[in-house]
Amino acid sequence: MIDTQTIRIQQTSQSRVNTLDESNIPFGQLYSDHMFIADYKDGEWQDLRIEPYQNISVSPANSALHYGITIFEGLKAYRNPQGEIMIFRPEANAKRLNISAERMCIPEVPEALFMEALTELIKLDSSWVPSSPNTALYIRPFVFGADEYIGIRPSENFRFMIITCPVGAYYSQPVNVKIETKFSRAFDGGTGFAKAGGNYAASMYPAKLAQEKGFHQLIWTDGKTHEYIEESGTMNVMFVVDGKILTAPTSGTILKGITRDSVLTIAREWGIEVEERPIAVKEIVAAAREGRLEEAFGVGTAATIAPIAKIGYEEEILEINNPSGGEFSSKILKELNDIRTGVIEDKYGWTYKV
Ligand code: COI
Repeated sequence: MIDTQTIRIQQTSQSRVNTLDESNIPFGQLYSDHMFIADYKDGEWQDLRIEPYQNISVSPANSALHYGITIFEGLKAYRNPQGEIMIFRPEANAKRLNISAERMCIPEVPEALFMEALTELIKLDSSWVPSSPNTALYIRPFVFGADEYIGIRPSENFRFMIITCPVGAYYSQPVNVKIETKFSRAFDGGTGFAKAGGNYAASMYPAKLAQEKGFHQLIWTDGKTHEYIEESGTMNVMFVVDGKILTAPTSGTILKGITRDSVLTIAREWGIEVEERPIAVKEIVAAAREGRLEEAFGVGTAATIAPIAKIGYEEEILEINNPSGGEFSSKILKELNDIRTGVIEDKYGWTYKV
């Protein structure tokens, strides 16, 4: 068990919270006053501390810079109508961080350490948690190799940090996505399921090519045949066809999204049929051509529920019946927002009050 007394706190002498304009919060550009740091040395996490948010220094031979030994998480804190702060499903993020850690030869971050660090940091920066509709405090825990060594081997020293930033919508409008059939994000046996920095680095070139053609994002397909839908890189994807929700099963190549799980749990409870199974590209193309693709949307912490307006497939643009969000995506977005902000009862035990 981690004793919070072991977290040393150095408070900023100059808060920047007055620069926060809740009516205009771009994603990921303004960081809160403090950050949490712990170092892994001699086989244990030590020197737990909260310091003013600032640049850090690493060796030019740092193992994360050279070999991408780095993993991260994303979660959000909200304000309830009483003004209290609630974090959505932090224990699930702690568990997933450690699933990523194992794959990348990174030591486990004990859940108690993760939760204490989060709690102390959010308490200290509570004034940064916005309360306007569709805003939240985005929380970014991450761990990276800290060895000064350019040989190839698992790192022996690491740093665990948490930074936070108030955010609005990641996508401010319905997104246009392209089904990617040439490049791959992940392969069986690879790191696709892990929230590892390299997965995101490798996705940027194909995404850039798609952006040059007017798409916001890609829908990745399986690395072997490109015949099956996987995920979108910034979010998992779901379709509503013939009244059913279709989504790819999380496997070794797809991130096990926490928003994804929340959406499917609620949908099942609402009595909506959910099919978690390999989704063939052909099936979605046929549904769109036949006017049966009722809704398509991405689900993720940053993206929340992001309606997909258009899907590019080869040279064709697939039309979606409800391009700016349909009945299900609008209803689930409201339900999730109401649970996260404490407007309705959280019967799932997902929210954690700071
Ligand atoms: C998240 O949703 O938290 C992510 O990590 C996605 C990233 C594109 C911001």
